[in-house]
Amino acid sequence: MSSRAAAKIKSTDQQADRPARLLAWYDRHRRTLPWRVVAGERADPYRVWLSEIMLQQTTVRAVGPYFEKFMSRWPDVTALGRASLDDVLRMWAGLGYYSRARNLHACAVAVLSEHGGAFPDTEEGLRGLPGIGPYTAAAIAAIAFDRCTMPVDGNIERVVSRLYAIEEALPQAKPLIMEMAATLLGPSRAGDSAQALMDLGATICTPKKPACALCPLNDDCAARTRGDQESFPRKAPKKSGNLRRGAAFVVTRGGELLVRSRPEKGLLGGMTEVPGSQWLAGQEDAAALAQAPELKGVTHWHRRAGVVTHVFTHFPLELVVYTASVPPRSRAPDGMRWVPVATLDGEAFPNLMRKVVAHGLDL
Ligand code: ADE
Repeated sequence: MSSRAAAKIKSTDQQADRPARLLAWYDRHRRTLPWRVVAGERADPYRVWLSEIMLQQTTVRAVGPYFEKFMSRWPDVTALGRASLDDVLRMWAGLGYYSRARNLHACAVAVLSEHGGAFPDTEEGLRGLPGIGPYTAAAIAAIAFDRCTMPVDGNIERVVSRLYAIEEALPQAKPLIMEMAATLLGPSRAGDSAQALMDLGATICTPKKPACALCPLNDDCAARTRGDQESFPRKAPKKSGNLRRGAAFVVTRGGELLVRSRPEKGLLGGMTEVPGSQWLAGQEDAAALAQAPELKGVTHWHRRAGVVTHVFTHFPLELVVYTASVPPRSRAPDGMRWVPVATLDGEAFPNLMRKVVAHGLDL
């Protein structure tokens, strides 16, 4: 659908009762989630914020235990703002991307020092805080402060793109989807409207085999009428980039492994990795090997047979794995550290690195 068509639908929409139908459905079928208040109660902005930051990271199911752990240790923003960053990072371990945990802590500190311990109650005010982007600001403003705004996450994108059979592909379609999503807001209960759409997307309007018969908006869902609901949202075909190549160096010191942290910004930001070369299209093995870390006593690297492959969203990667072992008490090069192989599960290792280490250590 084009923007003009969208505007026309808006002006002639006979479906003015959609917001009410959606809320009635939510009142009967809402999911019970640890951060949600019971119907009619005011949400605590701290709980809403904490859950939204965690939900950027992983699924509702995985967030549950982390949310409970954080709440029992730091029950309010004052407690979290006074906590040490190290304690927050430790508690975050396993949720991924430590930059989010750093921002979480920085945000709590900013709420204390710049806002007297109370979260700002507007989208604009919230956006000024560390780690709060447009989606999260809208979610907190709607859910915690009942501001009339509709946050649009992946679930809501799917519901709305089906409801209006939006032909434009993501990500270009995002502004149109946001505009159409806002038509599902009623005169009040913006937070419940948003959470109703999130729940609808998670439980009924699912990516595959949506349960349309149970949907409160099924009568006027354009995609359902056409019978091609699973094909929405439309997505631009992925550009698969050129194969990049590189080397990874698996160095052990007894039962310990040499690792470093990736830069905070960029691909796999802040996560742990073994030292490696650059990843470049067409890179020769010898050029990658020449980037090995300098380690006293290591004159020869053992090349493991085969390669580790991984597909990122915008390029495939092939890594040759080299191993070496160094004597006890050898120092780690600058910016690197030793971690016990036995505790690698607690490290923020991306999947790629789990494959590399398994390949290098024959795990
Ligand atoms: N995903 C992100 N925020 C959510 C919320 N408040 N409820 C359910 N799913 C969500």
